[in-house]
Amino acid sequence: MVNDNNVILGDCLEVLRDIPPESVNLIYLDPPFFTGRRHRSATRNGDKQYAFDDVWIDSDDYLNFLAKRLSACKRIMKKDASIFVHCDHNNVQFARQVLDLTFGSDNFQSDIVWFYKRWSNAKRGLLQQHQTILFYSMDCSFKWRPMLLDYSATTNIDQILQKRTRDMRGKSVYATDVTGNIVYGKEKRGVPLGDVWDIPFLNPKAKERTGFPTQKPVILLERIINLTTDEDDLVVDPFCGSGTTLVAAKLTKRRYLGIDILPDAVALTKSRLDNPVRTESALMRDGIEAYTNHDPWVESHLVGLSYSRIQRNSGMDAILKESIGGKNVFLRVQRENEALSQTVFLLENAIKNKGDAIGFVIATHDEPLVMRESNVRVLRSPAMQLNHTLAHHFGGDVSSSSFPRKFSEAVSGF
Ligand SMILES: C[S@@+](CC[C@H](N)C(=O)[O-])C[C@H]1O[C@@H](n2cnc3c(N)ncnc32)[C@H](O)[C@@H]1O
Repeated sequence: MVNDNNVILGDCLEVLRDIPPESVNLIYLDPPFFTGRRHRSATRNGDKQYAFDDVWIDSDDYLNFLAKRLSACKRIMKKDASIFVHCDHNNVQFARQVLDLTFGSDNFQSDIVWFYKRWSNAKRGLLQQHQTILFYSMDCSFKWRPMLLDYSATTNIDQILQKRTRDMRGKSVYATDVTGNIVYGKEKRGVPLGDVWDIPFLNPKAKERTGFPTQKPVILLERIINLTTDEDDLVVDPFCGSGTTLVAAKLTKRRYLGIDILPDAVALTKSRLDNPVRTESALMRDGIEAYTNHDPWVESHLVGLSYSRIQRNSGMDAILKESIGGKNVFLRVQRENEALSQTVFLLENAIKNKGDAIGFVIATHDEPLVMRESNVRVLRSPAMQLNHTLAHHFGGDVSSSSFPRKFSEAVSGF
């Protein structure tokens, strides 16, 4: 017999046999994915290495491994329990096959797409940006705690609040009262959570990052736990690795039990449980809009250029899609209340660690600037160039002589 709030070393097939039948509310498992390799990684300072094997004789060997362990999971699940099996493109077809056989295809609930953005070198073919989590239950009475998300900025909330009814032909129409006015239905508090979850991958500096290979984010597990269990329910992870599920269970006041065949994983999980940490995702809290620089002033001065907007860097606004002479070209538009020398200084600093790069400041007001040795050049904005041309033709004061006359002249120094 095993106690809960515990981490046990061993093959989960053996340990699961010691858990009483029908005693568990939720099982999440993230087994090896049939990648055919040994996964290794290390802590940030490199003083501890972790590794586990994901090597199989063939697909039957893997199917057999999963089938035995999933049926051991089924035995301990309560009637209203759920099971979530984490997969990627390597094993999802095998897991689906075994889960259908073990739990019955009628008890398949969802294949959740965990979507994340990830930078990677371009390769032939599509960049992998999701994993799949297969969700099954024992029957249709599984516990469910619905979660509502905010409406998106493009949702016409006024329209969705309008009550609907059926007309004489059974067609869905907006309901009106006797005077023909629109009738508003009950308050709608949000959109039910869908099966595509946009949750950031753990970034290299995340507080909760342990250095264990394939570690999942706590917020992903918290979501699964919150959807399918109540406080004090028992959550089991038979392949607990670094212990993410147990940390999430502890943070959400559930009981937990973790199993892993690797002594290092058990030790790591225990130490994480002593000080459970969740990395807040600012992206999820504040929304993508908070990270998107929309500045009409800047954008109006970049019109006509082929560029990508740079987010979250206060010194630069954009990078040109084409390099010049093999060098990346970064741009910054002079702000309305910014001295030109300050704009140049900010861009110089921002490109310091960008290798062999060129910077262009787009000057938006006429002021003299003493240019010195720098990898940042100053160009007049198109509006300024026009003003200069007009002043030149019709007289007037063209105060700045420091601007290169045209783009090619500014580029020629590089
Ligand atoms: C993909 S990792 C789990 C990662 C985990 N979800 C996390 O967030 O850190 C898979 C884990 O399964 C463990 N494992 C492999 N075979 C096992 C078995 N038969 N019984 C228990 N654990 C096993 C490995 O040692 C590894 O830690």
